[in-house]
Amino acid sequence: MSAPSPAGGPVGIAVVGCGTISTEYLRNLTSFPDLLVLFCADLEIERAKAQAAAFGVPGAGTTAEALAEPEVEIVVNLTVPAAHTAVSGAAIAAGKSVWVEKPLALDSASARGLMAAAAAAGVRIGCAPDTVLGAGLQTVRRLIDSGRIGPPQTGLALLQGPGPERWHPDPEFLFQRGAGPLFDMGPYYLTALAMIFGPATRVAAVSRRAQATRVIARGPRAGTEFQVEVPTHISALIEYEGGQAATIVLSFDSPLSRYGFVEISGSTATLAMPDPNQFDGDIRVHDLSAKGWAAVPARGPTDGRGLGVLDLARGLRSGAPHRASGEIALHVLEILEAIDRSAATGAFEPVLTSFTRPAPLPEAWEPHARTLA
Ligand SMILES: NC(=O)c1ccc[n+]([C@@H]2O[C@H](COP(=O)([O-])OP(=O)(O)OC[C@H]3O[C@@H](n4cnc5c(N)ncnc54)[C@H](O)[C@@H]3O)[C@@H](O)[C@H]2O)c1
Repeated sequence: MSAPSPAGGPVGIAVVGCGTISTEYLRNLTSFPDLLVLFCADLEIERAKAQAAAFGVPGAGTTAEALAEPEVEIVVNLTVPAAHTAVSGAAIAAGKSVWVEKPLALDSASARGLMAAAAAAGVRIGCAPDTVLGAGLQTVRRLIDSGRIGPPQTGLALLQGPGPERWHPDPEFLFQRGAGPLFDMGPYYLTALAMIFGPATRVAAVSRRAQATRVIARGPRAGTEFQVEVPTHISALIEYEGGQAATIVLSFDSPLSRYGFVEISGSTATLAMPDPNQFDGDIRVHDLSAKGWAAVPARGPTDGRGLGVLDLARGLRSGAPHRASGEIALHVLEILEAIDRSAATGAFEPVLTSFTRPAPLPEAWEPHARTLA
C-alpha cells in the first residue's frame, strides 16, 4: 500500500477529543507496546489534562499543540461527528495519519475530500468501527473463508428497540441528521456485512418515522419533549458485487428489543454472527441437515476500541495495508446515503465506490506483543 515508514520503534499517538469514548481508547492504546500515546487534546483543556493524568500521557493541550508534536504520527480523532472533517483535515495538513471514530465525515463528499487530501499528503486514514477486528467477527471471517458454510449467499441483519431516549440523558442528537438508527448503528452492521460480501452495488429501502416528537425518559431532563428529524425505522435490501443479497432492518420504533442479529447463509450452513457492535460473543452454525445450532468459540483479541489504531500503526511501519480503512468507511457511508435516498425516491439507488476486502487478521495476531523494534 505504501512504503514502510523509515522511523522505527513504537508509533507516536495523539488523542484529540477526550470525552466519553476516549477512556476505552486510552486504556487500550496505552496498553499496546507498539504504540506510544504522547498527547491528549480537547477544546476543553481541563478534560485533556484529566485524561492525560489518568493514563500517564506526557502532553496535554490544544489540537494545534498536538499537531505540532513531531513524534506524533497518528492523530486519533474522537471528537463529535460534526468536528470530524475539520480535525482530520488539520491532522492530514500537518502530515499525520488519522484514525477517526465513526462516521468518517457527515457526508460522503466531505469524506472523499479527506481521502484525496490524505492520498496527496502520503498519509493514511483508518476509521471505526474496529469491532470487525475483534475475536468474534475475525473468527467468522476465517470460518467463512475456510468454506465452513459454503459460498456465502445471503445476509439478514436486525437491530430493533424502542429508542435511545429511554436511557440516554441527552438523546436529541441521536434523532438528528447524521444519526437515527441508520447512521448511528448502521455502520456496525453494514461494515460487518461488507467484510463478508465485499462492495455493494445497489440498494432499495423504505423508511418510517413513527412519532414526530419524543420524550426524554431518564436523567435530569426527563419529561422534555424534542423533535424527531430523521426516519426511525428503515428496511433495506442490499445487493453486492458478486450478486449476494442482504436484508437489514434498523429501528427505534419497536417495543421489542433485539440487537446484534446478523445471519449469513451459505450453500451448506447458516452462520449467526456475534453482535457487530462488540469485539467478541457467540458464533453459531446451523448445518443443512442438523437439528440445531453448533457453537464455535471466538479466537482473537477482545481488548475493545483501539485495535484498528494498532493495525494502522503496524501497517505504517511494515507498509502493509491496514484493515479498518477510510476506503471501507467511505463505501459504507455511501451505502447509508443510498439507503436514505432510496427511501425518499422509491427507486433502487446505485452505490458507486468500491474497496478491496482486507485480509483477515492472522489467528496469532497479538496486540500486547512488541513487534516494532
Ligand atoms: N460514547 C460512545 O459509546 C461511543 C461509541 C462508539 C463510537 N462513538 C463515537 O465517538 C465519537 C465521540 O463520542 P463521545 O461519546 O466520546 O462524545 P463526547 O461528546 O463525550 O466527547 C467528544 C469530545 O470531543 C471534544 N471536541 C469536540 N469538538 C472538538 C474539536 N473541534 N477539537 C477538539 N476537541 C473537540 C469535546 O469537547 C468532547 O470532550 C463520536 O464520533 C461517536 O460517534 C461513541
